[in-house]
Amino acid sequence: MAITEPIVEMEAISIEFPGVKALQNVNFRLFPGEVHTLMGENGAGKSTLIKALTGVYKIDSGTISVLGAPRAFSGTADAQSAGISTVYQEVNLCDNLSVGENVMLGHEIRGRFGINWKKTNEAAHDALVGLGLGDIDPRRPLSSISLALQQLVAISRAMVSRSRVLILDEPTSSLDANEVEGLFGVIRRLRDQGVAILFVSHFLDQVYAISDRLTVLRNGEYVGEYMTPELSRSDLISKMIGRDFSTLAALGSNRGRAVHATGKPFYSAKNLGRKGFIDPVDIDVHAGEVVGLAGLLGSGRTELGRLIYGADRPDTGEVRISDAITEVHSPIAGLSRKIAFSTENRRDEGIIGDLTVRENLVLAVQARRGWARPLSKREQGDLCEKYLVELNVRPADPERLIKNLSGGNQQKVLLGRWLATRPELIVLDEPTRGIDIGAKAEIQETIAALAGEGMSVVFISSELEEVVSLSERIVVMKDHRKIGEIVNGPDVTAETIVDLIATEGNVA
Ligand SMILES: Nc1ncnc2c1ncn2[C@@H]1O[C@H](COP(=O)(O)OP(=O)(O)OP(=O)(O)O)[C@@H](O)[C@H]1O
Ligand SMILES: [Mg+2]
Repeated sequence: MAITEPIVEMEAISIEFPGVKALQNVNFRLFPGEVHTLMGENGAGKSTLIKALTGVYKIDSGTISVLGAPRAFSGTADAQSAGISTVYQEVNLCDNLSVGENVMLGHEIRGRFGINWKKTNEAAHDALVGLGLGDIDPRRPLSSISLALQQLVAISRAMVSRSRVLILDEPTSSLDANEVEGLFGVIRRLRDQGVAILFVSHFLDQVYAISDRLTVLRNGEYVGEYMTPELSRSDLISKMIGRDFSTLAALGSNRGRAVHATGKPFYSAKNLGRKGFIDPVDIDVHAGEVVGLAGLLGSGRTELGRLIYGADRPDTGEVRISDAITEVHSPIAGLSRKIAFSTENRRDEGIIGDLTVRENLVLAVQARRGWARPLSKREQGDLCEKYLVELNVRPADPERLIKNLSGGNQQKVLLGRWLATRPELIVLDEPTRGIDIGAKAEIQETIAALAGEGMSVVFISSELEEVVSLSERIVVMKDHRKIGEIVNGPDVTAETIVDLIATEGNVA
C-alpha cells in the first residue's frame, strides 16, 4: 500500500438519534503520519463521528474502511484490536496499579513462573522512552502522577498495543501550557513514526500548532477537508459557524461597560484562608462588578472560589455580605446567602448524566428550597424555558438525558443551574472550557449582561485574554497566595498578568 492511501476512510456516514440528525452524509479520511483535527461547534457531531468509527454507535448508513477493507467494529475494544485506540480525557487506566503495569496491561511479559515483572517493567520503560517519557518510573503507582502524565501513560499503552490510529477527543481541556507542550511532543513523535492521529480541541492556537489537516463539521453535516496552513483562522471560523464571523468582534473587550467599584462592596472578605490550602486573602466584589481570578493551573484559583462559596470551610478570616458579618461555611450557607458556584469539573461534580436536562437544571433551586417541597412541573418548566433559551442550549429539549448532549451544551446547562438560583454573587470556575468559539462569546456576553444587571461575579479562567476582556479588577494568584490585584484599564493585557506572575518572588 502506498503511503498516500488513507488508513481510515468514512464515507457518507449518517446517524440519527431520536429527534437529532447527529451526522448526515459525513466524509472523513485519515492518513498515516498526520494529525487530523475535527473542528466544529458544540454539538456539531465530532464525538459522534469518533464513536461511529470505533463502533460505540451503530451507523444508519455509510461505509467505514480501514486499510481499504470495509469494517464495522462492535466497540472500543474491538476497534483497539484492529489498531485504533481512543484515549479519553478521563483516562481509562487502573488507579491501583503501577505505571508500568498500566502500560503493559494485557501485554505483560511472561516467564516460566507467571509474569516476569522485571522484564515487564523494562518493556514499559522502553515504551515510555520511545515517547520521550523516560523520566517516568514505571514502578510508581499510577495514582501518584498527574492527570496529564496519566494521559501520556494511556497513550504509551495504546502504542504497546501497536496502534496505528490514535484518537484524542479534547485531550487538552484541563492541561496547563507545559502539559500541552508535553502532549504535543508525544503526538509529533508518533506522527513521525507514521501513526495517524485524530484530534479534537476548541483551542484554535493548539489546532494550528499541531494539525496537518482539518475536517470541519457543522450541525452534523460535512463542510469540508482542508490543509491547515491553507485555511486562515477567520475562514475556519466562518466555516464552523456558517456565516461571516462577526461575533469575533464580540470576543474583544467588554471593558467599555466598566463599573467603578466605589462605595461598599457587596461581598468583602478579609484574611479569608484555610491552612495548607489558601494563605489568607483579602477580596472585595461590588455589585455589578466582575472580579477575575487569574493564575496558572494549581495557583489556588479554584480553591479560593470554593472558600468564597463555602464548598470548603475557611479557618481564618471575616466575611461581610452587604456589610453584615456572615459565615459562609457550607454550600447550603452559600446558597442561602445567594452565592452560587459553578464548578470547573463538570463531569465529576457537575452534571448527573442519567438525569434529564430539566432535572439537572432545577437541582440547585430545589436544593435551596429543600427536598421536602418539590418544585411543581410548571415551575420546572418555566425555569427550563427561560434558561435553555437564554443560554441557547441545543437541543433545547428539557426531557433529554443530559449525557446525550454535547460537552459544551452540558456546560451551558450547568451554568443555567446556578443562574436559576438568582444569585447575587456567582463564582464561575472555567465557565467557557470545552465551549466552541461562538458559544464562548455568547457566555461571555451573558456574564457581562448579568453584571450589567447588578450581579457580582467572580470569574475564573485559565485564558488570560478572557479574564482581561471581562473583568473590572483582576486578583492574581500564585502558589496558593494572592500576589497582586490589577485594576483593569486600557493598558492592561494578558502580558501584564504574566509579567506579574513571572517576576513575583524574584525581586529582592
Ligand atoms: N447518545 C445520544 N443520544 C441522543 N443524542 C445524542 C447522543 N450522542 C450525541 N447526541 C447528539 O448528537 C449531536 C452531536 O453531538 P456530539 O457529542 O457529537 O457533538 P460534539 O461535536 O462532540 O460537541 P462538543 O464540542 O460540545 O463536544 C448533539 O446534538 C447531541 O446532543
Ligand atoms: Mg464532543
